[in-house]
Amino acid sequence: MKGIILAGGTGSRLYPLTKVTNKHLLPIYDEPMIYYPLHTLISMGIKEIMIVSGRGHAGDFLELLGSGKNFGVTLNYTIQEEAGGIAQALSLTEDFSDRENIAVILGDNIYEDSFDISDFKGGARIFLKEVSTPKRFGVAEIKNGKIVSIEEKPAKPKTNLAVTGLYLYDNKVYDYISTLKPSHRGELEITDVNNKYIRDGRMDFSYVKGFWSDAGTFESLYNASTWKKIKEEKNEN
Ligand code: G1P
Repeated sequence: MKGIILAGGTGSRLYPLTKVTNKHLLPIYDEPMIYYPLHTLISMGIKEIMIVSGRGHAGDFLELLGSGKNFGVTLNYTIQEEAGGIAQALSLTEDFSDRENIAVILGDNIYEDSFDISDFKGGARIFLKEVSTPKRFGVAEIKNGKIVSIEEKPAKPKTNLAVTGLYLYDNKVYDYISTLKPSHRGELEITDVNNKYIRDGRMDFSYVKGFWSDAGTFESLYNASTWKKIKEEKNEN
């Protein structure tokens, strides 16, 4: 299994914090944001990881993380030239995946859990978390223990189950992406990829047990930092 961290995007919701740097380099309490998804992939036993970033700050990622040696992994880097969405960024990793299964994590997703993925053999898997503001996320509908649909940022969410930013895929993901059309916001949506797996009956899911947050808004960035501070304090006592 190979790992992919998607760290593109303009971070417009965090302006002016993102005026001169990349969102994923901002601090979550005592570490740069990108350390968190990196640690999540490492906790899954993944050793080879590709980071996809946008133009402008790619050199800063290299400067911060280097070859990956200090983390016990091998890091590879590539550039998303234009902001074309999560699925478009993922399409750039096909050669790197080398036909293996992949674990994809969004660079602003902060998880307390580590995940055992040793039973994942193929198809796709998403990780759901109950939230109080489902409108901000992809929202999953479950019927009889099966996932039947995901809606991206619905005005009237059917459930409060957010699809978090960690995804396992087999290599068919690249075929699915190649058939996508841009959404109304002009992006190739990861939710459209996931719905193709659901339609083909090849998607399963599990739940996130511990803390989870994205960190792409002022409020969620602040909440994630607060969670980390409290966790560190508990560790000290
Ligand atoms: C993206 C996905 C969304 C998912 C979220 C998790 O949204 O499109 O389905 O729930 O990440 O962080 P974005 O944060 O890019 O708006």
